[in-house]
Amino acid sequence: MSSTGPGGGPSTATVIAVAPGRVNLIGDHTDTTGGLVLPMAIDLATTVTGRTGGDRVVLRSAAEPEVAVVPLDVIDPADCSPGWARYVAGVVAELRPSIGFDGEVRTTLPVGAGLSSSAALEVAVALALGFEGSPLELARLTRRAEQRASGVPCGIMDQLASASGVAGHVLLIDCGEETIEPIPMPAGAEVRVVHSGEARVLAGSAYAERRGAVEAAEVVVGPLRAIRDVSDLDALEDPILRRRARHVVTENERVRAFAAAMGQEDLAAAGEAMGASHASLRDDFEVSTPALDALVSRLTATPGVFGARLTGAGFGGCVVALTEPGAIDDGWLVRASAGAHRSTTG
Ligand code: GLA
Repeated sequence: MSSTGPGGGPSTATVIAVAPGRVNLIGDHTDTTGGLVLPMAIDLATTVTGRTGGDRVVLRSAAEPEVAVVPLDVIDPADCSPGWARYVAGVVAELRPSIGFDGEVRTTLPVGAGLSSSAALEVAVALALGFEGSPLELARLTRRAEQRASGVPCGIMDQLASASGVAGHVLLIDCGEETIEPIPMPAGAEVRVVHSGEARVLAGSAYAERRGAVEAAEVVVGPLRAIRDVSDLDALEDPILRRRARHVVTENERVRAFAAAMGQEDLAAAGEAMGASHASLRDDFEVSTPALDALVSRLTATPGVFGARLTGAGFGGCVVALTEPGAIDDGWLVRASAGAHRSTTG
């Protein structure tokens, strides 16, 4: 694939890069400590279309009033405006393409709902700007881009799910080993994402605070990913640190249980693990809100719903539900989709 014209000038070829969002079925606030997560890439996605050329990355978005204009030598992505240009700049700063790009962004993802619209934008932009490498390398680069753009010390889950999705499969990801095991979505299962109506507030600063607490716990008891028995947390005297750590340790176990249940097509057991995950995020990690709790209760009480929980960082945003087909009709019906890809025409 050639991305520059003769003499390094503008290309006449049009690049089309597509990156899906993701929903996490179980395993939240575990990726930053090398734990287990179980997301899937979804059939809502961001597309970047355009041509290489010039010495800036210029992107227009149907969803944004202002154009993103990023020089190739951008120094501090977090300083860029408008806000969405920071994510573009984060990718430029990490990838350092030798030639600019002019194009447009379209997305079917709701922005800021917890379905990783920013990860999808970063992954699509990196591919459009000529990234070459494995999906894991793409995820590592775009995770760094997200951290530089937002200042949030996020894990690798969102970018890795977007880069590595497999159609019809959920992804059991070991964030410590950085390995992915696709598990077929059982027949007779549907995934719905329902917004709580509450924008995610303070998600960035509270996320960093929780991550700090988990790291402080690890200083005392060692890597949480290696702990299977919560009694190993007894050395933690601070009750808040103990609760935070207990969430991480028990969440890793729930991801294992959920993965096994999906493999056996035992949707009732999978749903039970989701309910327990929500309770732990609410009581031990304290990242739920009354609106998320009420939505989870309502969905869980609906016939045909196997389980429901908040998904992603929490503090507002969305709930994910595993259901029989057609059991609920609110929110988005999402299907497990292939990961990000790029094509060139002309
Ligand atoms: C955000 C972060 C992820 C992950 C989740 C919580 O989506 O970007 O890395 O930590 O929160 O599981």
